Amino acid sequence: MTNNQSSTNERVIVFDHPLIAHKMTTIRDQTTTHRPFRAVLSQIAGLMVYEVTRSFKTNPVEIKTPITTTTAHHLAGTITIVPVLRAGLGMIDGILEVMPEARVGHLGMARDESTLEPVAYLNKLPKDLSAGPVILVDPMLATGGSASAAISMLKDAGASDLRMICLVAAPEGVERLQLDHPDVTIYAAALDDHLNEKGYIVPGLGDAGDRMYGTV
Ligand code: PRP
Ligand code: URA
Repeated sequence: MTNNQSSTNERVIVFDHPLIAHKMTTIRDQTTTHRPFRAVLSQIAGLMVYEVTRSFKTNPVEIKTPITTTTAHHLAGTITIVPVLRAGLGMIDGILEVMPEARVGHLGMARDESTLEPVAYLNKLPKDLSAGPVILVDPMLATGGSASAAISMLKDAGASDLRMICLVAAPEGVERLQLDHPDVTIYAAALDDHLNEKGYIVPGLGDAGDRMYGTV
């Protein structure tokens, strides 16, 4: 734990960083259009990944610098990032910018707006998800239904070392995920107040996919 984080418990890391707070203001502001929304979403994801990967293992490697030989470090295992379509795609470029060696699987989930239940429509994952850490990426953790179903799909595909990055989490979603998947650490840029009667996060940012792609 650094001074730049607050945490509700060890499985929920909520960032408390001035730069991220500043960028969240742009993201939440209803006057922010899709182009700056996408750019800032990607930037926040890039900043968050630094902490999300803190517990990743490394292997020692002998190298020669121009001066001498020394023991350096390579990331161990094969890292997989899995965005939940659509909105998760908006965080991928920022993550790959700082971790270009990661591969990308895709899960498509749409929340039925009347039942709030997730409907899976795409599952395109690497075969050997057990080969290293897997990071699930979705900006919104609302009821937690989509994230819980996505994590079950990842576990069914072999993933065992799992984390989730989201931008805004609701307490209801955090509780659901901790109940369904207590082994998965959640990293959130902000923990908001509650869900409204339509299942939207309050104060939140609205519909992340619509705001990203200008389909509001
Ligand atoms: C949003 C969001 C999550 C889900 C969260 O996706 O990106 O996937 O809702 O809600 P939950 O925690 O209650 O399941 P949405 O279904 O709106 O699809 P979209 O990204 O295509 O807009
Ligand atoms: N999905 C969103 O995009 N926003 C919310 O507030 C809740 C679910």
